[in-house]
Amino acid sequence: GRALRLALLGCGVVGTQVVRLLAEQGADLAARVGAPLELVGIAVRDLDASRPGIDRALLTTDAAALVERADIVIEVMGGIEPAKTLMLRAIAAGASVVTANKALLAQDGPTLYAAADAAGVDLYFEAAVAGAIPLVRPVRESLAGDKIRRILGIVNGTTNYVLDQMATEGLDLASAVAQAQALGYAEADPTADVEGFDAAAKAAILASIAFHTRVPLSCVQREGITGVTADDVAWAARTGHVVKLLAIAEMTDAGVSVRVHPALVPTSHPLAGVHGAFNAVFIEAEAAGGLMFYGRGAGGAPTASAVLGDVVSAARHRVLGGRGPVESRYADLPMLPASAA
Ligand code: NDP
Ligand code: HSE
Repeated sequence: GRALRLALLGCGVVGTQVVRLLAEQGADLAARVGAPLELVGIAVRDLDASRPGIDRALLTTDAAALVERADIVIEVMGGIEPAKTLMLRAIAAGASVVTANKALLAQDGPTLYAAADAAGVDLYFEAAVAGAIPLVRPVRESLAGDKIRRILGIVNGTTNYVLDQMATEGLDLASAVAQAQALGYAEADPTADVEGFDAAAKAAILASIAFHTRVPLSCVQREGITGVTADDVAWAARTGHVVKLLAIAEMTDAGVSVRVHPALVPTSHPLAGVHGAFNAVFIEAEAAGGLMFYGRGAGGAPTASAVLGDVVSAARHRVLGGRGPVESRYADLPMLPASAA
C-alpha cells in the first residue's frame, strides 16, 4: 500500500529511541502493517542541538505545519501547550495520534478523546502509563468485558529508583534524583516525579479507563516522596519494610477513590522486589481475579517500545479499516474527594 506518513513531535529521550527503532525495524513494521511507514518530519525547539543518528533534513521548528501532512502524529514533546493544540490540529486534519503525555491526558483527556471520537481517528497512549509495560491496552481492551475493582502499584520509575538508591546505596534524595535525570527517567521538571504529580496523572488515567468515568486530577489524593527521610528508609529496613510510592485506584460503594502516597511495604511482598526504574501494577477484576504487570517503567527505549506498538495499531487501522477504543462516552461516577480518600 501507499506509505503512511509519520510526524514526530519531540526528539528527546523518547523521540530519539522512536527514530532509532523505526529505522532499525522499518521493513518488519511495514510487513506487519501492510504498508511502509515513512518518517516525514521531526519537530524540535533547537535545530542546532547535537543529535547523533538523527537526519537533520527531517528537523523542523514548525510543528503546526508538520502535523498537517501526516497520517499518524507521534507526540513525545511533553507539556500541556503546544502539545494539546498540535494534537487537536492533527486530529482535526484526520491524523491518528499516539502520545506518551500523561500530564496532558490527566488534565484534559476528555477534550482529546471527544475530538478523536468526532473525527473517527485513533488516540493511543500506551506509553503514558508505566513505560514499556502493556497496561493501557489490557485495561482498555482485554479487560473491557470485566469489572475492575482495584488497581494498585508502582507507576513512577524515578521515585522508585530514588527510594531504591536511598535504601541500598545510602544516597540522599537530591543525588538520586540527579542520577534518575541522567538516566532519562525523570520528567523535564523532576518536581513532577518527586511530588507525586506524575504518579497521580497515571493513576487518574488508569482509573478513568478502568472504571469508565472521568477522573478530575483535583480528586486524586497526592503525596510525593520529598518528606521521606534517610531515617525513615533506615527505620523501614530495620522493621522488615521498604518505602514505596504507591498509586491506588478503587471502586467503592461510595464512589471512585484515587490516591498516591508513600507506603511501608513488607520485604516479603512482591512490590518490595521492584527495583530501579521498574514499575509493577496489580489489578483486581471481578471475573478475572488478580492480575500482575511488571517491567521497565521509564527510559527511552522501553517507552519507545510502547509508542511503536501504538503506531503499529493505528497504522493497521489506516490500512485495514476499523479503529481503537473510544473513551468519549464515559458516565460521570461519583468521585470521593481527595481529602476523604
Ligand atoms: P525530553 O525533554 O527528553 O524531550 C522533549 C523533546 O520535545 C525535545 O526534543 C524538545 O526539543 C521537544 N520539544 C519540547 N517542547 C517543544 C516545543 N514547544 N516545540 C517543539 N519541540 C518541543 O522528554 P522525554 O523524551 O523524556 O519525554 C517526552 C514525553 O514522554 C513527555 O510527555 C514525558 O512525560 C513522556 N514520557 C517520558 C518517559 C521517559 O522515561 N523519559 C516515559 C514515559 C513517558 P529540543 O530537543 O529542541 O529541546
Ligand atoms: N518520569 C516518569 C517516571 C517517566 O519516572 O516514571 C515514565 O512515565
